[in-house]
Amino acid sequence: MMKEYRILVSDPLSEEGIFPLRDAEGLSVVFDTELTPQELAEKIGGFDALLVRSKTQVTRELIEKAERLKIIGRAGVGVDNIDLEAATEKGIIVVNAPDGNTNSAAEHTIAMLMSMARKIPQAFTALRNREWDRKSFVGVELKGKTLGVVGLGRIGMEVAARAKGQRMNIIAYDPFLTEERAEELGIGFGTVEEVLKASDFITVHTPLLKETRHLINAEAFKLMKPGVQIINCARGGIIDEIALYDAIKSGKVAGAALDVFEQEPMVDFRLLDLPEVVATPHLGASTFEAQENVAIDVSHDVVSYFSTGTVRNS
Ligand code: NAD
Ligand code: MLT
Repeated sequence: MMKEYRILVSDPLSEEGIFPLRDAEGLSVVFDTELTPQELAEKIGGFDALLVRSKTQVTRELIEKAERLKIIGRAGVGVDNIDLEAATEKGIIVVNAPDGNTNSAAEHTIAMLMSMARKIPQAFTALRNREWDRKSFVGVELKGKTLGVVGLGRIGMEVAARAKGQRMNIIAYDPFLTEERAEELGIGFGTVEEVLKASDFITVHTPLLKETRHLINAEAFKLMKPGVQIINCARGGIIDEIALYDAIKSGKVAGAALDVFEQEPMVDFRLLDLPEVVATPHLGASTFEAQENVAIDVSHDVVSYFSTGTVRNS
């Protein structure tokens, strides 16, 4: 590499994981993870690559100011914080790290499922308040119950495999899932409506797209069994939070486990006031292993891009 390329890391990324960038010749890396959108817009013109997680919003306005930018690396799966159309129009490549946090996100989903079913966070909160209350926290077993998986991609597939270990029956919907493939996997197959109707627990694992925004809305809740419990460790906005609030208040939904929210950081805390809700602040990929994996993957892509002009994107 003859020229010096400047890389800005604007969200917290594993410092160990970016070793491919540090080891490469001709790349200089700047970590600046506390920039306001305005400060970022002022700085971006001086960089050839930008590495982000989900906090930085890579908007059209930002991209328009990115005079030298050639590549944006998303250390994670979802690219919904990046204006892909604006990047493409400017000839900027966008790469993500689709595999590195699959395991962590699947484990977190199972942790949320079990916490919700057995009301562990609620019981712990009571105990911390010195209340020895065994009556309010009676849960339900998972064994023999049906878990509906909406979106059977990398994470959905791992969640289904782990839930089978809990002796749950699985039914899934994914536009790319065939009946034959479902049979091979030993799971049930249905349309999204059939999955919603058949499930005791529902977990969503789709990307956030035009088609999946509010996929779980008031109409969808009407199809579900009374007492259904629902998990979202994918993206805020797949579930309509107002419809979820109403469905919990009406008694239709008995539990919700949420890692992601329509607005992050969260501003509307009403759902958290409901005793049926357990929640974490977007921690699905927050393990040392996942953060190192995704940082390594995007760093390799950036090095590869500046040295050979190609990327692997995985
Ligand atoms: P993936 O691309 O492997 O799988 C997504 C699946 O959704 C695909 O199989 C796709 O066919 C399916 N799909 C698309 N549209 C659909 C629809 N309308 N109905 C049903 N299925 C549909 O992605 P993944 O790695 O499994 O990630 C899944 C989600 O989890 C993404 O939204 C990702 O951003 C999110 N994620 C969250 C965390 C976290 O920290 N909470 C961590 C990693 C990933
Ligand atoms: C992702 O899409 O990979 C997740 O949201 C994880 C993250 O970057 O925090």
